[in-house]
Amino acid sequence: MFSMLFSASTHAQTAPASTPNTPASQATPPPVEQRVHDLLKQMTLEEKATMLSGSGWMESAPIERLSIPAIKMADGPMGVRSWIGSSALTSSSANPMKVETTSFPSGIAMASTWDTALVQREGHAIGQEVKALGRDMILGPTVNINRVPLWGRNFEGYGEDPYLAGQLAVAYVHGVQGEGVIPSVKHFDANNEEFERHRVNATIDERTLHEIYLPAFKAAVQQGDAWAVMSCYNKVNGTHCAESDYLLTDILKKEFGFKGFVVSDWGSTYSTAPTVNAGMDLEMPGGPPMKAFLALPRATEQGSSGGWLTADKVLAEVKAGKITEATIDDNVSRILRVIIESGLMDHPHARTAEVDTPEEQKVAREGETEGIVLLKNQGKLLPLDPSKIHSIAVIGPNALVARTGGGGSSLVRPKYAVSPLDGIKRRAGAGVQVISALGVGMEGEDPAHDTPEARATDLSAATGAAAKADIAIVVVGRYNKLESESFDVKTMDLPAGQDELIAAVEKANPHTVVVLNTGDPVTMTKWLDTTPALLDMWYGGQEGGNAVASILFGDANPSGKLPVSLPKKFEDSPAAKNYPGQNLEVNYAEGIYVGYRYYDTKNVEPQFPFGFGLSYTTFEYSDLKLTSTENAGRNGRWSFSLKVRNTGSRAGAEVVQLYVHDGDTKIDRPAHELKAFSRVDLKPGESQTVQFELDNSAFEYWSPQTKEWTMGSGPFEVQAGASSRDIRLKVEVAP
Ligand code: BGC
Repeated sequence: MFSMLFSASTHAQTAPASTPNTPASQATPPPVEQRVHDLLKQMTLEEKATMLSGSGWMESAPIERLSIPAIKMADGPMGVRSWIGSSALTSSSANPMKVETTSFPSGIAMASTWDTALVQREGHAIGQEVKALGRDMILGPTVNINRVPLWGRNFEGYGEDPYLAGQLAVAYVHGVQGEGVIPSVKHFDANNEEFERHRVNATIDERTLHEIYLPAFKAAVQQGDAWAVMSCYNKVNGTHCAESDYLLTDILKKEFGFKGFVVSDWGSTYSTAPTVNAGMDLEMPGGPPMKAFLALPRATEQGSSGGWLTADKVLAEVKAGKITEATIDDNVSRILRVIIESGLMDHPHARTAEVDTPEEQKVAREGETEGIVLLKNQGKLLPLDPSKIHSIAVIGPNALVARTGGGGSSLVRPKYAVSPLDGIKRRAGAGVQVISALGVGMEGEDPAHDTPEARATDLSAATGAAAKADIAIVVVGRYNKLESESFDVKTMDLPAGQDELIAAVEKANPHTVVVLNTGDPVTMTKWLDTTPALLDMWYGGQEGGNAVASILFGDANPSGKLPVSLPKKFEDSPAAKNYPGQNLEVNYAEGIYVGYRYYDTKNVEPQFPFGFGLSYTTFEYSDLKLTSTENAGRNGRWSFSLKVRNTGSRAGAEVVQLYVHDGDTKIDRPAHELKAFSRVDLKPGESQTVQFELDNSAFEYWSPQTKEWTMGSGPFEVQAGASSRDIRLKVEVAP
């Protein structure tokens, strides 16, 4: 099992030359498991206990006597952030240790590409930067499900669907591990709000855990062979995740077969023996930085806790008979196994500082270009034709500044970042006059633009600019102080004055394109009816401005599809009544009805559905059929094919989505669930046959009675769609 899970050959198609390997000149080292065993035999109990907590803010403890290196970590997941301290420190421009690296698009933008190959390339690029900086581990990907539109970290994750999030997590993990770098799939298991994240208890039934909140982790472990998983801050069903036997041992290690190590989120441990015994392998941070952090009033206020797995505390518990040496051996073996398997033991990463290479920038640009979602395009206002346009007014608080990502530990400091204004200017060329206006100051950012007088002046300058131009482009949204780790977004409404700005610009110029630059959904009802064209660029990383320009001008054909339903208003969203909870208790009472599982089953119309995204061309679906059946029931495999044709005049990519509907009325099941998808590139007029294969898991639900995945009894329908609400073809299947 171990060699299967950790064998480099499982990454054969992705492994670059630098995959951890022993140089031919050295004798072949004993197999990983033997080396782990040998090392463990040589270690004293004290040394083993030392390895259970970090030695610094981002370093595990080395055992120099045995040449066991420290694992040097760096924050992520959207690129490499510096590693000396909490985000408050590293985001400060006074930080002398700041590093500048490639800022990749937010997780939600990468999820909108539905392009696993591209996410894998992103993983490679990030892995290369980690190594170039002499580090060994990236704290990502974030795979928590978007349960509530206001979660402050939705921008980091891969959206609302467990299957999509799982497949993207696998791709990211393969990319990173292919470089011999350790990823950390986070935050296990249900970190879905930032509100009181250290104290809140999420009550989640077992079926919902298995169907919604666990599958992305399961895929990362079983298909991605992930080397590390990070536990989350909050409690699940009464127990902090860092001391949950149920989650860490029963589910992750036993049920999923996870052989890597669990690292705690920073400051999320509350006990010694229960934490070690639950299967928490490595407590972070550690050493003097941990002590300094916990001494801050802020740490106590927010409920941070740590320093429980230090050697002295662990040894005392061993002496007291509360922890056995066998348990410590298991925890330490897991860390050793990853150190050896990743190649770290034999080949420490030498710092070359070669980051933000043209290849890495290219991945960032492609990711954002594919991730931008075209939501509306009335009268084919887009793409813009520079030969017919003489002037463009570029307006808005997010037009003039590059808002690359949300706030917190994921915010990368890039060497450069292209704002939408700069990207548009560059692309429009000398023949098109580009004028710009702030329109409205970003809420809370600059006091000089936050007064009623300043707002009136900024608004009138913007409408004046819009009225004079052939086209107006308004870029609105939030920024890293309004949308961030550590707190939730206060409202789905756009920040102060932005709705009014859009409405006023649309009035001044009917040829207005609105561009959303946020991670969380926003309320659009105040202006959408009169908006001719709308793009969602999410947080786009350092190449955001270039990517949005290439979509606006049609150099690239939009192909992004929403990885999350965008509700009309917060109250429409499935967990609205159960958020953020009361008295630190949040009940996931909506159960499995998260995202489109809710909207499509309960007939609540979202503003834009899951899977939706327009293109400058059109696609026709035909001939969905079941092409073969291998075995039946639990061993079954069902193959399907369908034809997709590009019926327009531009090359483009379509993301074909396969949903499964179970017609059994005796079991509570969502209207349908995503079970496969494929991105197809098609030239004008071209058609392609797309193949899909489903196994039994596509038809199963998790039964609370038997506590097992159970085949539904159907009748089943396999649906091919361009979104969860645009099902084009259906075929019946009897698995
Ligand atoms: C975040 C993690 C992050 C860690 C280290 C925590 O506050 O939740 O995602 O990796 O800090 O910075």
